[in-house]
Amino acid sequence: MSTTAEASSGFAPLSPDYLRDPTPTLKRLQRESPVFHYAPLDCWVVTRYKDLTEALKDVDRFSSRATGFIRPPADLAPLVPDLSVEEIIITIDPPDHSRHRNAMAQGFLAAVIMRMGDVVRAHANQLIDGFAHRGRIDVMAEYAVPLTMNTIVEILGVPPERKPDYRQWSEDFFFLLTPRVLGAANDTELRVVPPEELHARWSRLAEANRFLSDYVDLRQREPGDDVISAMLLAHEADGTPSIGRSAVIRHLISLIGAGHDTTANTIAHLVQNFSDWPDQRDLIIADPSLTANAVEEGLRMRGSVPGNFRVTTVDVEMSGVTIPKNSLVYLLSAAGGHDDEVFPQSERFDVRRVNASRHLAFGFGRHSCIGNGLARLQARIAIQELYRRLPTLRVVPGFQRHYLPLMTVTGLQGLDVEWSN
Ligand code: HEM
Repeated sequence: MSTTAEASSGFAPLSPDYLRDPTPTLKRLQRESPVFHYAPLDCWVVTRYKDLTEALKDVDRFSSRATGFIRPPADLAPLVPDLSVEEIIITIDPPDHSRHRNAMAQGFLAAVIMRMGDVVRAHANQLIDGFAHRGRIDVMAEYAVPLTMNTIVEILGVPPERKPDYRQWSEDFFFLLTPRVLGAANDTELRVVPPEELHARWSRLAEANRFLSDYVDLRQREPGDDVISAMLLAHEADGTPSIGRSAVIRHLISLIGAGHDTTANTIAHLVQNFSDWPDQRDLIIADPSLTANAVEEGLRMRGSVPGNFRVTTVDVEMSGVTIPKNSLVYLLSAAGGHDDEVFPQSERFDVRRVNASRHLAFGFGRHSCIGNGLARLQARIAIQELYRRLPTLRVVPGFQRHYLPLMTVTGLQGLDVEWSN
């Protein structure tokens, strides 16, 4: 088996074709070179379910300190003192990780999530009331994003009037993430972004830093029943605060982004699947209780986090390939959902698939998604209400999907749908 850069030929994770339909490439890589070196990023790519779960749960050999930011221009750096610090929840290793995760998780207890069900359903119907007569919309911009943004704003308790800014800021924040071995001597940028774009994105994040910092200060003075206050108030057994104010600001923007965009992408991709597989759409319309499993199947087919970076702390052998110590590794979880050994006929969208929920779309192990309960609840209700009200809804024939060129989040730029009234 080849483990060299040639093995990666045909792997173009930022190309429009791959982003539109990664499945054929994922399946081919799994078959032909399950672990390979991808020269453009000097990283190793892991594609098989078994290897992915092993790596995701092994935080000792696979450190999460593998993602940084494309650095701010010198004139803006002082204005992003909190948002440019390369310590976000997905990059923190144990033991510190537990303090941060426990502080964040307070707001995502099952009881809080369950309370959101009625809010999500009411808002879904309010949105549908607004467009049902039109017969055609961009379901991403006019349904999935406003719905999920509304929920996260409610849970976090941040001022709702800045919703358009939250969307832009969190896109900027995620866009600027880049694979990098944190703390390594050689930390040249692996991703190149045109200087004007870089400046524009960091300028907006300067405004975000100021706004979120002021808001965290307010919550410090006047704590409420929200996730920010919970993070600020979290204490260790010895009475010391679990995390500092600067970390709360970073976690806040991470939660805004992780909390709405990933779920919105999931809802939109479910709509794409139901459009491609109308027999499956008819099944959930006839029996809405199948929708929960349909959401799992949608996440298996295409999760909103295609992969995550890690760095090896020792030499590691996987599928017969040795990944050297201190290597950047791309755990391509999206491929896990298409491993035929676990999910036979994986290219089929089957809302009755019995093991659909074994997908890796929410990660696995210590860093697995804090918001998975909220995401599942929202996606289920969003889909149930959409097809209950508009059963003939489908993607406009010939519509071409476009994505942001990113490897760790799926950035669908819109999805035009139509229906008959
Ligand atoms: C369908 C929607 C979602 C998907 C596919 C998703 C996916 C993921 C994945 C794959 C990870 C693991 C990252 C890693 O291993 O490095 C993760 C972590 C995380 N997610 Fe989600 N997520 C979703 C929704 C949400 C929501 C709604 C929230 C919060 C409101 C959220 C908050 C988080 C947080 C805080 C982490 C970091 C956990 C840690 O590092 O310990 N996610 N998510």
